[in-house]
Amino acid sequence: MSVGAIVLAAGEGTRMRSATPKVLHTLAGRPMLRWVLEALEGAEAARTVVVVGMGAEAVREALPDGVAVAVQAERLGTGDAARVGLEALDASVDTVVVACGDTPLLTRGLLARLMAAHRSAGRDATLVTAQLDDPGAYGRVVRGPDGEVLRIVEARDASPEELLGREINAGLYAFDRAALEEALGRLSRANSQGELYLTDVVGIVPGGAAAVVADDPGEVLGVNSRVELAEAEAVVQARLRRELMLAGVSMPDPSRVYLDAGVRVGEDTILFPGTHLRGATEVGSRCAIGPDVVATDSEVGDGTTIMSAHLVRSRVGRCCQIGPFAYLRPGSELADGVKVGTYVELKNTRLAEGVKVPHLSYLGDAAVGAGSNIGAGNITANYDGDAKHRTEIGERVFTSCDCVFVAPVRIGDGAWTGAGSIITEDVPAGALGIARARQRNIEGYAERRAAARRARPTPTTSEVES
Ligand code: UD1
Ligand code: MG
Repeated sequence: MSVGAIVLAAGEGTRMRSATPKVLHTLAGRPMLRWVLEALEGAEAARTVVVVGMGAEAVREALPDGVAVAVQAERLGTGDAARVGLEALDASVDTVVVACGDTPLLTRGLLARLMAAHRSAGRDATLVTAQLDDPGAYGRVVRGPDGEVLRIVEARDASPEELLGREINAGLYAFDRAALEEALGRLSRANSQGELYLTDVVGIVPGGAAAVVADDPGEVLGVNSRVELAEAEAVVQARLRRELMLAGVSMPDPSRVYLDAGVRVGEDTILFPGTHLRGATEVGSRCAIGPDVVATDSEVGDGTTIMSAHLVRSRVGRCCQIGPFAYLRPGSELADGVKVGTYVELKNTRLAEGVKVPHLSYLGDAAVGAGSNIGAGNITANYDGDAKHRTEIGERVFTSCDCVFVAPVRIGDGAWTGAGSIITEDVPAGALGIARARQRNIEGYAERRAAARRARPTPTTSEVES
C-alpha cells in the first residue's frame, strides 16, 4: 500500500473576516496548517500535497520542505479541491488520506487509527466521525438501520430529521484511490451552496464506507470563525501546559500560562500567572518566571528569576535576577549572575558576569565588563540623530547615579564616575570621571528672601481679585 495525503486549504474562510488565508491563522504561534501536517505524520504518507487557493504564495511560504502544493483555480468546493490534489499525487499512490487544513487539533494517534481501520475494513472509504452534543454546522453522518454508513449530509442541506443526528463528519478520510477518482467525476453541484462536495463521495463509492469514531470530540474541531479559533487555542494551550507539567514544570494557575508550540522549559521551573513564552524560547531548570513575563525567542539559563518583564531575542545566563519592570530588547546578552532591576531597558547590550543594573537605566549598544555596578538612572546616549555608537564599560567599574554616557565612549577597568555626570570623554582605568558644575552654597539666602517679602506692601482686596 502506497499512501498519499491531501490537505484541503484553498477555502477563502470568509467567516474569519481576515486578509490572511484561514489556514495561516495561528494556534500557539504556529499556523493551523502546520498542526494538520504534523498530525498527518501518523498516516505515514509517502507524499503530501496541500491544495491552496487564496493567498497561495503566503501558504506556500509557510510550508515545510518536502510538502508539494497544488493550486485550486476556483473555489468550487471540497470535492473539486480533492480532485486538484489527486492530480498532483503520482500514479503509484493507491491509498489517499484527505484532511482539511482547518481541523488543527487532529493527533497522530487518530490518523494512525484511521489508517489501521481503513486497512482492516477493506472499504472504498473510511471516515472519522465524532459524537457531539451540539453538532452545529458540521456535516451529519447518515447511517442505515444496521449501522452502515450510508452518506454524509451537509447541515445546510439536511432535513430537520437528519439535523437531529449528533454524529458528525470530521472532514478526515482515507480512500481507495481509484474509487475516489471515479466518484469525484460523478459529483453534482445540486446543493444549497452550489459546490462540489467531497462528502458526497462517501455515498457514491461502490465499495461502501467504514467509520472510526474519535474518542475525544475536541480533536475534530473545525475552525471556520474566530470564535472556533479561540476554542481551538484553548485546547492546544491545555495540551502544551499538560506536557510541560508532566515534564516537571510547576504552574500554580495553568490557565494563565500561555505557550507557543516548541517552547522548552526545564525541570523544577515554576511559571507564575501571566507568563507568555513565545517563539523559540527556552527556559532552563529551577527558574521562577512571572508573574507577568513575556519572553519571545529568548534563552534563559538555570536558576534565573524573572518578574514583570519583556524579553525579545535576548539571552540570559544562569542565576540572574530580572525585573520587576524590565525590558530586554533584541541583542541583550546577560552572562551568569547578572541583575537587571526595576525600570531598566537594554538593547543590543552585553552584561558580563555579575554586572548589576538595578534601577531606572537605559543601556543601548553597550558592553559592561564583569563585576561592574551601574548606578540608578544611567543612560547611554547611543544615537546622535544619524548613527548609533557604542559605550564600552570595563570590569569592576562603579558608575554613580544619574550618569549619561555620550557614545562613543569608553570607561576603563576599575574606574568610577561621579553622580550626575555627562561623560563625553573616555575615563581611564582606575580614574574618577566627573563632569558636572561645582556646587555653590549661598549663605543666608532663606532669611534674605523672607525679609524681602515682609517689606512688600500688603495688596488690597481688589488687587488680589484682578
Ligand atoms: C466541511 C465538510 C463537513 C465537515 C467539516 C469538518 C464538506 C462539503 N463539508 O465543512 O461535512 O463536517 O468540514 O470541519 O466537505 N476548501 C478548499 N477548496 C474549496 C472549499 C474548501 O480547499 O473549494 C478547504 C477549506 O480551506 C477548508 C476545508 O476545505 O480547509 C473545508 O472547507 P470548509 O469550507 O471549512 O468546509 P466546512 O463547512 O467546514
Ligand atoms: Mg471548515
